[in-house]
Amino acid sequence: MNTRHIPPAPTTRPDVCRPTGTAELAMLDVYMPMMKSAAILSAGKLGLFEALANGPRDIAGLADTLHASQRGTRDLADFLVTIGYLERHGELVANTASTQRWFTSAGRVDYTPGLRWTLEAWPMMGDLTAAVRRGGPETTLWQAMEDKPQLGATFSAYMDAFAGDLGPDLLAHVPVLPEQRRLLDLGGSHGMHSIRFCQRHPQLHALIVDLPSALSETDATIARHGLSERIHVGPGELLVHDWHGQHDVVFYLSVAHNHTADENRLAIQQIHDALNPGGLLVIHEYLADTPGNAFMAAFRLTLLYETGTQTYRHEHYRAWLETAGFAAIERIDLDPLEKGSLILARKA
Ligand SMILES: C[S@@+](CC[C@H](N)C(=O)[O-])C[C@H]1O[C@@H](n2cnc3c(N)ncnc32)[C@H](O)[C@@H]1O
Repeated sequence: MNTRHIPPAPTTRPDVCRPTGTAELAMLDVYMPMMKSAAILSAGKLGLFEALANGPRDIAGLADTLHASQRGTRDLADFLVTIGYLERHGELVANTASTQRWFTSAGRVDYTPGLRWTLEAWPMMGDLTAAVRRGGPETTLWQAMEDKPQLGATFSAYMDAFAGDLGPDLLAHVPVLPEQRRLLDLGGSHGMHSIRFCQRHPQLHALIVDLPSALSETDATIARHGLSERIHVGPGELLVHDWHGQHDVVFYLSVAHNHTADENRLAIQQIHDALNPGGLLVIHEYLADTPGNAFMAAFRLTLLYETGTQTYRHEHYRAWLETAGFAAIERIDLDPLEKGSLILARKA
């Protein structure tokens, strides 16, 4: 019997940039993505999707719950129906299955914090022209987070939601042996990756190292999961922080694209030196090996204005890892590819 798991097909939504007719209308391609993003972000901020999580509602009741006007709620809901985020049930509106699954607390992953983060990123995007001229940001995201602490908390909450999506992939692909007891989570932020691995492997203890701006909620999250005895946080720059001795598993998850090539080379060497023999390094990244992939190109453009750093090719990682002394280097492309790739490497 074939027991292979077949993932559900991705949701298909109407292409709202396509004109109705045979001639082209160039500005649809500019205006409609802007309105689509604006509407979804407003719905997230208003709590509209969550307000429909328990079932269909009429516009008057929905407007009341959102503390919004009936006219505004109706216009927003009408548009969200046309782009496939809501559906009509007679006089009522409801979340589509995909909206319920990805943007409410009743779903598998709630990306509402991702909507909040995108609202923060929206005005930053206005600086893209200047970033292209300069070749980088005027102020990095990390500097902005020092000036505006709420920014760091909002970003970490979004990363936490993404970690909920990535968590099952990591647990499936990252083997932890019973004798491996110490996990170092560099750039571990929200702490959810360490928490999941400590829950799965009762012998594990973890140290999470990240900038103070990313750790504002982490201790509380760890305590909520009853793991304060086994998971500790170390605020600081990962390249200069004292990692407290030797470790068995090191996570470097979505961190390399925030660093220069020289910083990554150095970090990977330091990780190698801090691993016990047989220890495992786990990298999660968006690899620059797929030219022509729209998401990867968009992500590089985001890095231009957010951090001034870039994505790297698999061959770069392989060279850094081999130079540091790692062996058994394995690449796993996740499905979909836009979820990134894992690179596993062992200290001989
Ligand atoms: C994209 S987030 C990834 C968070 C988490 N590892 C995950 O996979 O969900 C990148 C993290 O790296 C942290 N970071 C960036 N530069 C850093 C540095 N120099 N030292 C320590 N942490 C850093 C950020 O604060 C942020 O939490």
